[in-house]
Amino acid sequence: MKIKKLQGSFGAKVCNIDLKSNLEREDFEKIKTAFVKYQLLIFPSQKLEPKHQLTWSKHFGPIQKLYAEEHRIPDCPEVVVLSNEQINGKHVGVVAAGDYWHSDLSPSNNPGLATILYARRLPSEGGDTEFADMHMAYQTLSTKMRKQIANLRGIHCISKLRNHRVKVTRPGGRAYYKKQNEIPDVSHPLVRTHPVSGLKSLYLSPRFTIGIENMEDIKAQPLLDELFAHQIKPEHIYRHKWKIDDLVMWDNRSLNHRACGGYKTDDIRRIHRTSTLGDQPF
Ligand code: SIN
Repeated sequence: MKIKKLQGSFGAKVCNIDLKSNLEREDFEKIKTAFVKYQLLIFPSQKLEPKHQLTWSKHFGPIQKLYAEEHRIPDCPEVVVLSNEQINGKHVGVVAAGDYWHSDLSPSNNPGLATILYARRLPSEGGDTEFADMHMAYQTLSTKMRKQIANLRGIHCISKLRNHRVKVTRPGGRAYYKKQNEIPDVSHPLVRTHPVSGLKSLYLSPRFTIGIENMEDIKAQPLLDELFAHQIKPEHIYRHKWKIDDLVMWDNRSLNHRACGGYKTDDIRRIHRTSTLGDQPF
């Protein structure tokens, strides 16, 4: 097995490994350490059935069953299909998932830990995924800003309809998000401490963070805008250009991500996704 760091501040490629084989304990420990150290791991050329992806994902926390049943693999429902493909006029997967910068499931008390995506079909153009390093984003804030946000908590909201920074892009999305209007918001510290590495990161996103606890919007919104702009400075970002059979997994405790889109509705992209449950941010 070879772990090769990417050029920027985070991410590594892991080669010469078959994720469906029984890994040596030592290799597995190296991968777990690399996952926290590099935050994003890319395993090229994997040949996996959904059950293999599920078994692999279980090493990184309890599996979360997300999205509607019709968008999951029937005999392996923990694996969700993200796709623009339609069969007999019906979408086989979730369309336009993750189209704004976010950390998975931050509007819950126990947000996502690892997200694992496996590329099954790719469009002829577009379809990349971008990742942004929230440790680095925190470290590169001015001392004044770090002091200002040290004890603040962001308000995270699941429904797109209550967030003026995002648009509903998914077909039938308005009805879907209307139901989510009833789900209570959750607050988390703007500065999150990674439970394993102890490093601090900026924990907020334009997709989910709609305000700051105990702060009037007149002050909170410009502050959020400033932090959102800082998060996605080019030096904090890695853009993944997918290859078929890539398995990519990342740590939602310290990375934000977004699906970049940019492909046509009939140019099929199909990704199999699994997610694991994390702990309460502090
Ligand atoms: C996601 O955010 O869950 C999906 C990202 C992607 O499809 O590139």
